[in-house]
Amino acid sequence: MSILSSQPGTAKELAALGAEWLPREPLARHTSLGVGGPADVVRIRDARRIGDLIAYIDDRGAKWRLLGGGTNLLVADEGIDDVAIHLVRDPQGLKFEGGRVEVATSSNLGTTVMECGKRNLGGMEGLVGVPGSVGGALHMNAGAYGTEIKDVVRAVTVYRGAAGRVEILWTDKVHFEYRGSSFAPDDILLSVTLELPEKPYAEILERVKQCNQKRRASQPINEKSAGCIFKNPPGVSTGKMIDELGLKGTRMGGAVVSERHANFLVNRYGATASDFVSLMDLIRERILKAYGVELEEEVIVWKN
Ligand code: EPU
Repeated sequence: MSILSSQPGTAKELAALGAEWLPREPLARHTSLGVGGPADVVRIRDARRIGDLIAYIDDRGAKWRLLGGGTNLLVADEGIDDVAIHLVRDPQGLKFEGGRVEVATSSNLGTTVMECGKRNLGGMEGLVGVPGSVGGALHMNAGAYGTEIKDVVRAVTVYRGAAGRVEILWTDKVHFEYRGSSFAPDDILLSVTLELPEKPYAEILERVKQCNQKRRASQPINEKSAGCIFKNPPGVSTGKMIDELGLKGTRMGGAVVSERHANFLVNRYGATASDFVSLMDLIRERILKAYGVELEEEVIVWKN
């Protein structure tokens, strides 16, 4: 339970800031893995009010984390004591101007790719099936089929927790790397300006179709997962290594190594977070023993 829960008037005070108070909300409802205990969630619609909201939470001595699309997140069964801030999706999140588009980070990534495509703006087709929000994709520098989101980013508007103010960062001030970026955990990305090459919609659709086919054939897209659970070491596929060790189908409680792609762990039988943690530990040990490689998690783990 966060400190906010024990203070009277929280719901009313948050409402005055344009935010909704959801105490002890099960985070399993907000993650694609479908596991995770409770947190006090604060939902906010208007990203411009984020500074006031953070000031309110800080003043009351509570800590916070940002909940994005929940598609790359493993929350402990006990939940967390920090407040989870959730930026609600903005239905008018895309503003086009020539080859540029300003996108609210709460927007869904796949929808953004397709909306840009309809306006003959390409360059992001590979990302179409990556689940989650644009903000999460930026933080993690999401990538698939030869495209990383960093390739099309020009500027990012960010609320910098440490400085307590909104800044616009051009991409030369941001470092992106494989599944990572220089944004701090308390940077709240608000919007991003993408610069996209012109491309006929028919060509974009064709490429999207190809990527979707590849993904359907090689990834368990209809099961509950967090995408790839570990990063790839340079030049190697972690999925291939796990597969070579014969670990597909291995089960811990309700969590299973997908038979379709071994770097996907799926929630097939009402798994708990600790089932996933046990399965990850087992894989890590086996890979270290067989290949001498220490795997790095791609999934973000939330625990106290
Ligand atoms: N392979 C196997 N067995 C498996 C999985 C893969 O033999 O169980 C082999 C494939 O046959 C292929 C090679 O390994 O020869 C590479 O597989 P794949 O093309 O699926 O690529 P990957 O390196 O395993 C990466 C990303 C995915 C992304 C795909 C496609 C990481 C950790 N994974 O997977 O991203 O969708 O390439 O571009 O970087 C994610 O980040 O969550 C994610 C799913």
